[in-house]
Amino acid sequence: MIAPGAWLGLLGGGQLGRMFSMAAQSMGYRVMVVDPGAHSPAGDVADACLRADYLDDAALARLARDCAAVTTEFENVPAEALRRLAQSCFVSPAADSVAIAQDRIREKEFLAGVVGVGPYAIIRAQHDLEGNLDASLLPGILKRSRFGYDGKGQVRVASAAQAQAAFRAMGGEPCVLERMLAFEHEISVIVARSDAGECIAYPVAENIHAGGILDLSIIPGRLSARLASQAQEATRAIAERLGYVGVLCVEFFVLEGRLLANEIAPRPHNSGHYSIDACVTSQFEQQARILARLPLGAPSLHCAAVMVNLLGETWAPGEPRWEKLLAHPRAKLHLYGKREARPGRKMGHFTVLGESVEGALEQALRLRGALPHQP
Ligand SMILES: Nc1ncnc2c1ncn2[C@@H]1O[C@H](COP(=O)(O)OP(=O)(O)O)[C@@H](O)[C@H]1O
Ligand SMILES: [Mg+2]
Repeated sequence: MIAPGAWLGLLGGGQLGRMFSMAAQSMGYRVMVVDPGAHSPAGDVADACLRADYLDDAALARLARDCAAVTTEFENVPAEALRRLAQSCFVSPAADSVAIAQDRIREKEFLAGVVGVGPYAIIRAQHDLEGNLDASLLPGILKRSRFGYDGKGQVRVASAAQAQAAFRAMGGEPCVLERMLAFEHEISVIVARSDAGECIAYPVAENIHAGGILDLSIIPGRLSARLASQAQEATRAIAERLGYVGVLCVEFFVLEGRLLANEIAPRPHNSGHYSIDACVTSQFEQQARILARLPLGAPSLHCAAVMVNLLGETWAPGEPRWEKLLAHPRAKLHLYGKREARPGRKMGHFTVLGESVEGALEQALRLRGALPHQP
């Protein structure tokens, strides 16, 4: 095991990194962040912050020299940076797993081999959207294969002509066209898998999106025990198949009582933020434990929880007044310290704990209703 006091390296300075840093620090580790920005949510709390690009030679050399282990919090960190670091220190997750999650085409092909995925076609050129396009994929969603997140890099299309126009507008980059699914639920499962192969699954989160961005997560999700355990098993199987070491999230759609995998995130996930307040061990602490080669902690829930994302809209015309939220004895506010609020930007979240999912949801919606500019 890597003893407390050691440095853990982190590529990326976003809110996931901030929550990771705080968890690692509370166990006595020191965190060194690499981020190109002047200020970053993780850089502001880390013990050291290197302002550099992810492939910067000097920054990677410094991480390799000083850190006992390195992780990433940013989906699009170049897999090459992880590969280079892995030559001299323990890196989790591995570059190969990250590379699959960064490429929707590879991700879909991989997921289709382990669990089901919804109907889709790979679009590499304009002619893939002409003559022999499978008409059952329309209406659909055209998604760029690389660099999409929070609904960005995807366009809803109703006809082949619209799909062609969207493909051109996105620069003719490789895409997937997915059939628009009228799913019953969106859910996600987070697993943590250690270097020793120990794997634990968190309870299933039921996720509600607005405008392609996660809005609410409800835990435990309101679905049958059979589907919930199937989703946990499928997520474990995905982690095993990847030989994955780290925290991994798989998003699923539930359609006609069946699970279809949507995408994987090779890191802690927004739908797991509730675990800070509602679980014995948070997803961020698991990431720190895995890096330090400690045994995993229990993922068990203390109680039901509902997490609400706070987006930049809520900051117009100014910082919200948090009094009502903070006055609730079972509401926990987390702000990421971002200096500028933009629409759609994740500024923070709050989690409401309750004896029942219904109770927590009702309280969460009431508290949210008291804030300005909600979806
Ligand atoms: N095939 C689909 N049918 C219906 N809704 C979809 C489909 N694909 C994505 N969505 C909606 O858009 C959201 C974002 O899409 P997703 O593929 O998860 O991309 P990302 O999270 O990387 O932006 C999903 O959570 C879901 O609400
Ligand atoms: Mg998603």
